Formats: sequence, C-alpha cells, structure tokens
Amino acid sequence: MSQHIVILPGDGIGPEIMNEAQKVIDVLVNDDALALTTETHAFGGAAYDISGEPLTEEALQACKKADALLLGAIGGPQYDTAPRDKRPERGLLKLRSELGLFSNLRPALLYPELADASSLKSELVAGLDLMILRELTGGIYFGEPRGIEERNGQRVGVNTMVYSESEIERIARSGFEIAMQRDKRLCSVDKANVLEVSELWREIVVKVGESYPEVELSHMYVDNAAMQLVRQPRQFDVIVTSNLFGDILSDAAAMLTGSIGMLPSASLDDNGKGMYEPVHGSAPDIAGTGQANPLATILSVGMMLRYTLNQPAAANKVELAVAKVIKEGYRCADIAGSDTSAEKQVNTSQMGDAVIAAMQTS
Ligand code: IPM
Ligand code: MG
Repeated sequence: MSQHIVILPGDGIGPEIMNEAQKVIDVLVNDDALALTTETHAFGGAAYDISGEPLTEEALQACKKADALLLGAIGGPQYDTAPRDKRPERGLLKLRSELGLFSNLRPALLYPELADASSLKSELVAGLDLMILRELTGGIYFGEPRGIEERNGQRVGVNTMVYSESEIERIARSGFEIAMQRDKRLCSVDKANVLEVSELWREIVVKVGESYPEVELSHMYVDNAAMQLVRQPRQFDVIVTSNLFGDILSDAAAMLTGSIGMLPSASLDDNGKGMYEPVHGSAPDIAGTGQANPLATILSVGMMLRYTLNQPAAANKVELAVAKVIKEGYRCADIAGSDTSAEKQVNTSQMGDAVIAAMQTS
C-alpha cells in the first residue's frame, strides 16, 4: 500500500525549496521503488491570494487524509495588512491545531565542515547536537481570552498563557521518550519564578519524570536558557519547553549551527503522523533569486521517512547524501565560508541536483 504525502509549498522561497524536495522524493520512488504518492496544495499567502483563505477547507481535508505533510514556508510582508484571521500564520496555526500536532521536534545539529559558519567560536559549537522539543498546540499561541479591546478609554491587547495538566503531561512524556533515545538528559525550560502556568508545568514535568529514572532531569528559567544556549550550548541534550519559549529558543539554537538553512523539523500528533518543514521562514528577500538553501527541506523529507513513514533506510540515504554534498564543498550562499577556493558555490536547484547525484552514487 502506498503512502500519501500532501505537499504545501507555501510562500516566498517555499516553492523553490520544495521543487528540490520533490526531486528527492521522485528519486526514492523511481530508483528505490518506494510507494509514495504526492499531491500539492496552495497554503498560506499563496492560498489567500487565490481563495481569500490561508488554509482552504479542501487543503485541510487533504491534510487530514494524508499519511504525512511536507511544508515549505509561509508568510511575507505583503500579508501584514491582511485581516488578522486571514494571515498566512493563522493558516499554519489552524493546521497545527486541527491536526493535533502538539509535539514539535527541532534538532540543532552542527555539520563539522560548517563550524566556521556559526556565529559562535567553532570550539564552542564543535560537535553540537541538541534537540528542542516545543509544545505546539497550546500556551499563549492559543490561549483565551485573546484580542484587542477597549478598557477604560484605551485599547489593550490581551493574550493568555494557559496549559492544562494533560497538555503538559503529554509533551513532557515526549521529552522523556526522546531523551531516552539520546543522551538521557532532559532540561525543562520555564519561567516558574514569575508565572503560575510555569509553576504547574514544572510540577507536572517532575511527576512524569518519576517514570523515567534513567533520564537526568533539570530545570532552567527561560532567560537563563537563552544565555546558556549562546554561552555553552553543548551542555544541552534535549530541551522541552512551551510554545512561545520554544519558538524563541529554537531560532537561537538554529543560528548556532551556522545556518538555519540546514535544519529540518517535525510536528507530530499522538499517532506519529507528522508535518515536516524547514526551521527557517519564507525569506521573501531572497525569493526568486536562486539563493535559497534547499537542504533543510530535503532533510525534512529524511525526517518524514524516519518518524512517520517508517522507511529508515531511505531516511539514511537522504541524510548521508546531504552530509556528502557538504563534505564535498557544495555551498549555497547562507553556508558559504571564507574558504571559497575549496567550496563549490551553487544555487538552489544545483544543490538539489548534487544531493540527487550523491543519492544515486551511494
Ligand atoms: C515557527 C514560526 C511560526 C511560529 C510563525 C510563522 C507562526 O515562527 O514555526 O517557529 O511562531 O510558530
Ligand atoms: Mg519561529
């Protein structure tokens, strides 16, 4: 039986990087006889332009039926003035919520050849391999009440950070499970010195931890965690945190690796169904220039094969091919180092072709 993937290219560089991911999927189908089928839907600003909705009912139903989802990126400055509930970001939040994708894995892995591209000294980041697990369907992103309203003669903006015990428990459990497969160290990040929601978070995480005696659990306030990430990032193995804190910390962690253009992510539901996307955004400033790095999206295909489609050999093949092109010196603009003589500067589609060539010679 074949497995069905819904592809959502999205906005900005989304369609360009997705072309390259599609080429990789085609190779897996044609050369490795993987039974994968795909269907593509407009999403985000692209869907709003056509239909007035960032997530159409048709796309949502297709996503619900699919085995896995592959997303490029969404958003762009031209949508800043669209009605708030029609903005691309709202489509993404609705999709996460409707599909119950509560568990967001954002690895930050440094390829040794790219240590110089990091904004930190290479000795601080050499060998960096950490996983941020971000709660994705709760917290201040979805809490009620929310809105902008009139109070005492002036407007106030309101959002609510709220977590139920069961929401904390399931993301904590995911965190411990992931830690068990890695170095067995879990750091829960909160703001329990100020926020009651974090006080509860910490209490529940400790309770869930009683079932995982092998995992070394620690707690850190989010401000300190931000500092520690840029001071000594290798102290972390797995970080588990709430929606907003995870949004912020995962961008910082991504930057440590030298390029946000290299990092894939997974958003999983209770059953392992997932949406896979690069950590980076739609980069409207370089859209259409051929500079976009497709590797994060290609690695998202790898993660999808591993975590949802249960095709570990194919996942290895994709990941090894990416490691090989990096080793061979292929660089898009974002990961270009100072040693340009040894590097082969390539554009988006040339990078995709290099990965395919590496897959076919492995
Ligand atoms: C992310 C993005 C999204 C978020 C935006 C585009 C809604 O920043 O996936 O990290 O804040 O979750
Ligand atoms: Mg973000």
